[in-house]
Amino acid sequence: MLKNRGSEEHSWQGDLTRVPFWVYQDEALMKEEQRRVFEGPVWNFLCLESEIAEPGDWRTTSVGQMPVVVVRDAEGNLTAFENRCVHRGALICLDNEGKGAEDFQCVYHAWRYDLRGNLKSVAFQRGVRGQGGMDAAFRLDEHGPRKMRLTSLHGLIFGTFSEATPDIETYLGPEVLPRLERVVAGRRLEIIGRFTEVLPNNWKMYAENVRDSYHASLLHLFFATFKINRLSQGGGIVVSPNGGNSVSSTIAPTEANDTAYDGMRSVDDEFRLRDESLLDVVDEHPDLIRQHIVTVYPNFVVQKTQNAMALRFFTPRGVDRTDLEWIYLGYADDTPEMRQRRLRHLNLGGPAGFVSMEDGCVGGFVERGIATASDEASIMQMGGSGTTSQETRATEAAIRGFWGLWRDMVGV
Ligand code: FES
Ligand SMILES: [Fe+2]
Repeated sequence: MLKNRGSEEHSWQGDLTRVPFWVYQDEALMKEEQRRVFEGPVWNFLCLESEIAEPGDWRTTSVGQMPVVVVRDAEGNLTAFENRCVHRGALICLDNEGKGAEDFQCVYHAWRYDLRGNLKSVAFQRGVRGQGGMDAAFRLDEHGPRKMRLTSLHGLIFGTFSEATPDIETYLGPEVLPRLERVVAGRRLEIIGRFTEVLPNNWKMYAENVRDSYHASLLHLFFATFKINRLSQGGGIVVSPNGGNSVSSTIAPTEANDTAYDGMRSVDDEFRLRDESLLDVVDEHPDLIRQHIVTVYPNFVVQKTQNAMALRFFTPRGVDRTDLEWIYLGYADDTPEMRQRRLRHLNLGGPAGFVSMEDGCVGGFVERGIATASDEASIMQMGGSGTTSQETRATEAAIRGFWGLWRDMVGV
């Protein structure tokens, strides 16, 4: 049982087919999520190895609301530590990224850290002209920011603060792992764009959205109209044994006329594209899957839609604000034509994308809708009440899987 802002007690009655709205609104719960989820037994996506390829390269990111630095040290080893100076708590690194660092110096009082996050020196430790300075009992090696345990999977770096987190292969599960590898393994990835989108909603609404194969062809007019993603196309949902990770697959459309969408808001056969190159797909995989969305608990997504590839991760900035980071990807050995095609197809993503624009605002519609309904709950019974894989996308199994794992971790 947790208390909300008004100290009114809330609990989650019932199973995973009802998600009470207070779980998106409770500030005390956010602190618990930071400790039990983001700093708990999970693998947090941090960055790509290629972003910190050389000794002294570093970048900053977030683990939930915690600022973190990821560094390659002089020996080439990867390290990640909390971006918090142990003196009075200022950020150690202020920029998003840097190259060739030999150490880090806090701007506030010039305390220095080595590339592994160890405190190396304190400015004026012995005072000035025999006066002032640190207490003689102070020891440098007794202080330092918290450090993460890291793992690397096909060039993606993940970190955890928990010794209980299993290896990444076990964490992802035997069905999700090869489907993630379908996109990221075997060819060198190259970042071809990146930006941050601010979402006006709780982070868990976006965690639901990326597992929600049911909405894609109903909310997204572009998907259904141009037959990129309709529920009547083949495909299905895979959910990992722990419930937290999932894959949604949509197979290429066939020529058959599809009447299943008659009467839906999202289909208007009058629409035509002036530039059809947006739909010009080259199937790079023999499975003919055209939309492939892999989610990794708690907040990471790998996707390939048409020939567009992207990583997404999202971090809470408040109960009703979330930063969504997009990293657009190509393969290093792409032909110039394929690179152009990927960039064209990436017009579907991002805050103004033909498809993702709607995901950027629908969480805000939910926030506004539930403003005074903390004790009401959503209905999540598409595809039954289970959390296992299904050969249909008309299901909310992956969302229920997320909530099952979240409830276990948070203790709600
Ligand atoms: S806060 Fe970093 S040196 Fe004082
Ligand atoms: Fe969507």
